[in-house]
Amino acid sequence: MSEKKDPKDTTVLVTGGAGFIGSHTVVALLEDGYKVVIVDDLSNASEKVVGRIGQIVGDEAASRLAFRKADVNDRAALDAIFDEFAIDRVIHFAGFKAVGESVQKPVEYYSNNLGNTLTLVDVMRNHGCKSIVFSSSATVYGDPDALPLTEKSPKKPATNPYGWTKWMIEQILTDLTVADPEWNVVLLRYFNPIGAHPSGLMGEDPKGIPNNLLPYVAQVAVGKRECVHVFGDDYDTPDGTGVRDYIHVMDLASGHAAALAWMNGREGVEVFNLGTGKGTSVLEIIKAFSAACGRDLPYQVDPRRAGDVTANYADCSKAKAEMGWEAKYDIADMCRDSWNWQSNNPNGYED
Ligand code: UD1
Repeated sequence: MSEKKDPKDTTVLVTGGAGFIGSHTVVALLEDGYKVVIVDDLSNASEKVVGRIGQIVGDEAASRLAFRKADVNDRAALDAIFDEFAIDRVIHFAGFKAVGESVQKPVEYYSNNLGNTLTLVDVMRNHGCKSIVFSSSATVYGDPDALPLTEKSPKKPATNPYGWTKWMIEQILTDLTVADPEWNVVLLRYFNPIGAHPSGLMGEDPKGIPNNLLPYVAQVAVGKRECVHVFGDDYDTPDGTGVRDYIHVMDLASGHAAALAWMNGREGVEVFNLGTGKGTSVLEIIKAFSAACGRDLPYQVDPRRAGDVTANYADCSKAKAEMGWEAKYDIADMCRDSWNWQSNNPNGYED
C-alpha cells in the first residue's frame, strides 16, 4: 500500500522533467508544495528549462527542486539518485517520441523506451518505491470504432513502434500490479498536447522539422516555414480534415498533479484519459492560430499521412468523477499561449 503523505512530505522523481509536458508538470507540482527531482539526459531538452521553472515558481518553490542529468537507462546513475533522495513517487515521461523516426529506428525505440522503464521500475522496487504515473497516449486506441473514446474503449494495434512502446509499457506496468499488489500505477492517456506556459517562458521546442501540427503552424506564423501542409482534406469530417482533441499543456500538467493527489494511499492500476472532449479540425486550428498571431497563415492541401486516423476525441468524465479534474483552457487559449512562446522564443531555448 502506498503510504498517504502530504505534498510537503512527498518527493516526486520526474523522468524527462525538462521536456515539454514534463517541465509544465514540474511547475504544477512545485506550486502544489511537492519536492521534485528531475532526471533528464537532455537528449531532447535544454538545461535552461530548469532556470525557467525557477523563474516561474519563485525562490521558495525552486528550493524544493533538484536536477540530475542522467539517462534513465543508466542503472548506476538511477541507483545513486534513489540513494540520494527518498523518492516517494515517480512520474515517467522520459522516452523517444517521434513517430516517423520510430518506424526507421524500431530497435532504438524499443530498446530505449522499454529498457528505461524496466530499469526504472526495478530500481524503484529495490528502493521500496512502488508508485508510478506513466505518460501514455491516446495512440493506444488506434483507429477508433466509436467516439468519444472512454477508458473502456478497446486498445487497438499500434501503427508504429513509438505507439507500440506506449501500448507495451501500459501492459508491463499493469502486469506489475498483478504480480505485486503493493504497486500503485496510474496510466494517463494524453490526447494532443499543445500550448505553452502563459508566461511565455516555457513551451515546445522540437528539433528540426516539427512532426506535429501545432509546432509546425507556430513556425509558419513566426516566418521559419513557408506554409502549413494539411495532410488530407478528404476525411469523413465536417471540413474533410483530421479531427483531434487538443489539450493545453497547462491542463495536462494539472492532470498529473490531480493524479498524484488521487493515487495517494491507493494501490492497483487505473487508467485516465486526459483531453477536453472536444474535436477540432486541422483547418479550425489554422484559423484559430491565425487569429492569435494576427495574420492569415498560408496553407496547402497535401495527401494524407500514412497511419493517421480520421478523428479522435476523449470522454473525460472518469477523470472528472474520480480525480475532480477537467480541462479549463480552450483552443483560443492554446493558440494564444503557443504564439506567445513562439514569438518570444523563435529559436526555442537556443540563444
Ligand atoms: C501524433 C502521433 C501520436 C502521438 C502524438 C503526440 C502520428 C500518426 N501520431 O498524433 O502517436 O501520440 O502525435 O503528440 O504521428 N497534420 C497536418 N499537417 C502537419 C502535421 C499534422 O495536417 O504538418 C494533421 C494530422 O494529419 C492530424 C492532425 O494534424 O490530423 C494532428 O497531427 P499531429 O499533431 O501530428 O498529432 P497526431 O497525428 O494526432
